[in-house]
Amino acid sequence: MKTATYRLELLFPEATIRRRLAEMATELRPRLRDGLLVVGIFKGAILFTADLIRALSRLPGPKGVEVDFLVVSSYGQGGVSSGQVELLCDCRTPVAGRQVLLIDDIIDTGHTLDMVAKHLRDQGAAEVITCLLLDKPERRQVSFTPDAVGFRIPDLFVVGYGLDFASRHRELPDLMSLHHEEITP
Ligand code: PRP
Repeated sequence: MKTATYRLELLFPEATIRRRLAEMATELRPRLRDGLLVVGIFKGAILFTADLIRALSRLPGPKGVEVDFLVVSSYGQGGVSSGQVELLCDCRTPVAGRQVLLIDDIIDTGHTLDMVAKHLRDQGAAEVITCLLLDKPERRQVSFTPDAVGFRIPDLFVVGYGLDFASRHRELPDLMSLHHEEITP
């Protein structure tokens, strides 16, 4: 009998992620204004958001930064996008008139970011700057170009640093690619 399993391969180690985040903070900094609202998309963006806001805070300004999260419907364990993204829990901080830095871990088909960015604009956000750790451009189904991207990657399944497979591996400090395999005992 064959047993389905998988192995993880190192894609970007913790130190590489840390260096890239410092660069991203430097690239983003000139665009960011006082009173910035940072909005992360739960759950995948939790580690990236935490580390990026700390990287930003090591640079001078902006002042009065607020941080919030919102929740959208997840792909679940199947990992296949239906193209229908539902807002499950909005951020509680008012966005009207604010500059918003919208953060997510990965852009794949683009449906999630497209929906959330439109939602924030509909709520009156003055500007929405989109910031992604990972971009898989070849998987895009809607035309969406993020303002800032950490790493452009091919069509790999990635876990670690906030990203999961079947709700696991989010806690890993490195980004790993996941490869399915079958073992015959
Ligand atoms: C992942 C990821 C993005 C979205 C990107 O979320 O965190 O939000 O998919 O995919 P898209 O560009 O095709 O819309 P997931 O549904 O896995 O939930 P999670 O953030 O809780 O892991």
